[in-house]
Amino acid sequence: MLVLGIETTCDETAAAVVERQPDGQAKILSNVVRSQTDEHARFGGVVPEIAARAHVDLLDGIVASAMKEAGVGYGQLSAVAAAAGPGLIGGVIVGLTTAKAIAMVHDTPLIAVNHLEAHALTPRLTCALAFPYCLFLASGGHTQIVAVVGVGEYVRLGTTVDDAMGEAFDKVAKMLSLPYPGGPQVERVAAGGDPTRFAFPRPMLGRPDANFSLSGLKTAVRNEASRLEPLEPQDISDLCASFQAAVLEATADRLTVGLKLFQERFGTPRALVAAGGVAANHAIRSALQDVAAKAQTTLIIPPPALCTDNGAMIAWAGAERMALGLIDTLEAPPRARWLLDANAKAPAGHANSRAGY
Ligand code: KG4
Ligand code: ZN
Repeated sequence: MLVLGIETTCDETAAAVVERQPDGQAKILSNVVRSQTDEHARFGGVVPEIAARAHVDLLDGIVASAMKEAGVGYGQLSAVAAAAGPGLIGGVIVGLTTAKAIAMVHDTPLIAVNHLEAHALTPRLTCALAFPYCLFLASGGHTQIVAVVGVGEYVRLGTTVDDAMGEAFDKVAKMLSLPYPGGPQVERVAAGGDPTRFAFPRPMLGRPDANFSLSGLKTAVRNEASRLEPLEPQDISDLCASFQAAVLEATADRLTVGLKLFQERFGTPRALVAAGGVAANHAIRSALQDVAAKAQTTLIIPPPALCTDNGAMIAWAGAERMALGLIDTLEAPPRARWLLDANAKAPAGHANSRAGY
């Protein structure tokens, strides 16, 4: 089975061709990603309209490269899959419409993939991981703990009630005048700082649910930064280190609760899987290692290129759905919001537009 996957929900324009063998083994034949970081850097964040226009300009060429690199003709495709949401709606429309056009012209089945489902199934693309497992997804748009029970069977155990974790890193970076995207900068600067200098709040610590909250912590950093003005380089390092320490402790606590909730409902997870850009953070990785060890499960973090947004994960989710006969019609709608577990309710009090409900 050969599937073309298209990803345009945020600021990566991406396409890939993935092959799935009947026994479930996967092979990535091509995986082309063009990040729009440069287009958005001077605004300190992703500008939806700029992203949508860039997807229009770039996508045809990216799809052509992915097909060429894979050495596959459109007639050989078993399906074309596109991320149909959740995400910035302009970009989603560009990717989904392109996939529909290819599906129509080449009379190929269309698969409208939930972007979060694609993150959730990625470890099965890289290793033969069996269900059920627990996913921690932390990116610029999402912060979720999800029980991955089967293809199409996801139970969200926790989510952020306000900012996404990557978004909090980006906002802290911006307030300290560090370049965008802020996550890697905060991690770099934090390495030379004192994580104990500021006692920032550990949001939600000890709560029986597995939800996250990051906006109060971000505000605490802002208040401390304004109190210290003008900031010396050491102040910035200490603020970053203290912020990161608070995120680490909160993450470990929330995941420990999430894994307990998982255990109660689904038994011991086959693995704890981390995905999303924040999973690139070394301090967070080692905190996750500890959490997984305490829960007597293994930690799996797919390689960075498959943790962040890419076309291979969309193609793979399409292949997994296709294998179960789950294909869509050309009426499949683009969705700015699309819950992974369709029956679940968003937690009370959420206010953020990028949090991925
Ligand atoms: O998954 P991703 O590449 O894109 C989406 O948001 O969809 O995640 C990007 C996010 C950004 O917010 C970025 O600041 C954050 O992940 N990030 C990090 C690190 N590297 C990327 N956050 C903390 N530490 C890092 N090393
Ligand atoms: Zn993503």
